[in-house]
Amino acid sequence: MIPQFFIQDLLARVDIVAIIERYLPLKKGGANYFACCPFHSEKSASFSVSPSKQFYHCFGCGKHGSAIGFLMEYSGLSYVEAIQEIARDAGIQVPDDGRNAARTDDSLDRLIEIMAAAAEFYRGALKDSSAAATYLRKRGLTPDIAARFGIGFAPDAQTSLQQVFQNYQDKRLNAAGLVIDNDQGRRYDRFRNRIIFPIHDRRGRVIAFGGRILDRGEPKYLNSPETPLFEKGRELYGFFLAQKAIRATGFALVVEGYMDVVALAQFGMENAVATLGTATTPHHIQTLLRQTNRVVFCFDGDAPGRLAAWRALENALGALRDDATLAFLFLPPEHDPDTFIREKGLDAMRQAAATATPLATFLLDTLRQRCDTTNAEGRARLPVEAKPLIARFPEAASGLRLQLIKAIAAASRITQGEAEQALGIQPARRMDADARTGSRQQAPQTRRPPPSPAATLLRLVLQHPSLAERLPINLIPDDTDEGRALIAIIDLAELGEAVTNFGALSERFRDTPHGETLERVAARSIENEFDPSVIDSLFQDTLRKLQLDAIEKEIAELKERNLLVGALTPAEQHRLANLLKEKNCPAGFVKPSDLR
Ligand code: UTP
Ligand code: MN
Repeated sequence: MIPQFFIQDLLARVDIVAIIERYLPLKKGGANYFACCPFHSEKSASFSVSPSKQFYHCFGCGKHGSAIGFLMEYSGLSYVEAIQEIARDAGIQVPDDGRNAARTDDSLDRLIEIMAAAAEFYRGALKDSSAAATYLRKRGLTPDIAARFGIGFAPDAQTSLQQVFQNYQDKRLNAAGLVIDNDQGRRYDRFRNRIIFPIHDRRGRVIAFGGRILDRGEPKYLNSPETPLFEKGRELYGFFLAQKAIRATGFALVVEGYMDVVALAQFGMENAVATLGTATTPHHIQTLLRQTNRVVFCFDGDAPGRLAAWRALENALGALRDDATLAFLFLPPEHDPDTFIREKGLDAMRQAAATATPLATFLLDTLRQRCDTTNAEGRARLPVEAKPLIARFPEAASGLRLQLIKAIAAASRITQGEAEQALGIQPARRMDADARTGSRQQAPQTRRPPPSPAATLLRLVLQHPSLAERLPINLIPDDTDEGRALIAIIDLAELGEAVTNFGALSERFRDTPHGETLERVAARSIENEFDPSVIDSLFQDTLRKLQLDAIEKEIAELKERNLLVGALTPAEQHRLANLLKEKNCPAGFVKPSDLR
C-alpha cells in the first residue's frame, strides 16, 4: 500500500500536461491542451488536458482521469505501477508501508537486471552461432525483425550463463527461472540450443523467455516458469511492441505463437500479440480492451483450433461490453498466421481480420451445431446450453445479451419471453435494463433542470479546491450525489488535508461513489470553466441560495407547528422573527464562518 498522503503530494508536484506530452503531441487551445484521443480513433482533437484541474477528458469517447489514470489506461499499468512510474520520472522515492515492500521491490529490480543481462547475452550468442542464424533465415526472418523483437540464441552447452553471471550459484538465477537445479545439486541453464524470444512487460522490460528448439525435438517451445516477474495468464507476447499499432489500426489480433507475432510484424501487421501457451484469460482480454475496442482472436481452422476458440470465448464473456467487438478468425486448416501471411500477404491477412466472425455469431452457430435445431429436442436444448453462457454477460453488455436472447428465441422457435424464462433471466432485471437504455437514449432530448446549488458549488470547488475550506458543512444538503461528494471534500479540508487540484482529489476518492461523481461533474465542466472574475460572487450567491433554502424550510416548519399546536413557544417565536429578518434582509448574508 502506498500511503495516500504520498499520492496527494506527488500529484501536487507533477504536471499532467508534461506527463501526457511524453506520449502524445499536445496543442494549446485556450486554457487547455488538446490532442487526437489515443483511446479511440478520430481525426479531430477531442482529447483535452486541463492544467488547472490536472485532469484529462475526451469529448469523443468520454475517457477521463488523473495522470495516474492516464498511465493506467494508456500503458496498461496497474495503479501502483502508474504511481511508481510518475514518481520515478519526478525523481521521488515511493515510500513503503512499513512491511517488507521495499525489500521485495529491491529484489524485483534485481531480477529485472538479471533478465536484461541474460537477454543481452542471448542476443550476442545469436550473432556467434551460424546454426541459429541459418535456422532463422530458413524460417524467413530478417535480421531487422529479429533485432526488433530482441531474438537471441541459447548456446548448446550446460552452463553458458556462467559467462554472464560471475556468481552462477546466485539464488536469484533460479528465482528468475534461468537455471535448473537437479536432484544431485548440480545447476545448469534452462535454455540450451534454443532460439530465444524475450517476453517483455508493459514497460518493455524483459521478464521471461520463450525458447524454440532448433528444428526437431521436444518440447518444441520451452517457456520460463512462473516467477515473481512473470505470470503467464497476465502477459501477452509482443504487447509492448504492438501497443502503438493496436491503437493506430483500431484492433488487436491475438494469435497463438511467438513465430506468428514476429512474422505478422515482419509483413506489416504490427498489432498482433500471442498468449503464452495458455488459453486466453479474462485478464488478457481486459488488457487489450484498455487499448482498443476491437479484439480479433485468430485460431487454426482445425478441430483443436475451434476448441481453443471456444475456450477463449468462454473466458471473454465476463469482459464483454456493448461498445466493444470481439471476433474470431479461423484460418484455413493448413495454415497458422505465420504461413498465411507469408503465402497470401498482408492484404489477405487484413481482409481476414476485418471479416472475422463476431463473438455472438460464433456462439450461436456453435450452439446450433451442438443442438441440431432441425428437430424439437435440439431446439429445446439450445436455451439450456446457452443459459450458463448468457448468465456470464455483465451489465455492460446488456444490449448484446438482449440481441442474443432474441436470436436464441428465433433459433429455438419460441418467443423472447419464453426464451428469457428458459434462460433464467429475471423479468425485473430485463425491465431495468430496458428502462436504463431507454432513458439513456432520451436524455439528450429532455431539457436538463438547472443545476442545484450543491452541483454549482461542487463545480466551483473542482475548479478551485481551496474554496472547500470556506464551505459551511451544515448548509450542504446530502440528498444528491453532488452534495454528498461536497461534504466528503469539506470533511477532508476540515481534517487539514490539503486539497491541491482536481486530479489529486479524484485520486483521493478513487473507487468510491464520490470519485465517480467528481469525475462526472469534472468531465461536464472541463470545457467551460467559470470565468475567474465571477467565481467569488458566484460562490457567495450560491451559498446565499442554500442559506435561503434552509431558512425557508425552517420557517415552513415553524409555521406548520403553529398551525398544528396552536401556538409557538417564546423561543420559537423569537427564532421565527429572526428567520424572517434574515430572509428579507438583502445584505443579510451570514459569513460562512458564522454558520458553522
Ligand atoms: P505451435 O506448435 O503451433 O507452434 O505452438 P508455432 O508457433 O507454429 O511454432 P513454429 O512455427 O513451429 O515455430 C503455438 C504456440 O504454443 C506454445 C508456444 O507459445 C507456441 O508459439 N507452445 C507450443 C508451447 O508453449 N510449447 C510447445 O511445446 C508447443
Ligand atoms: Mn508455425
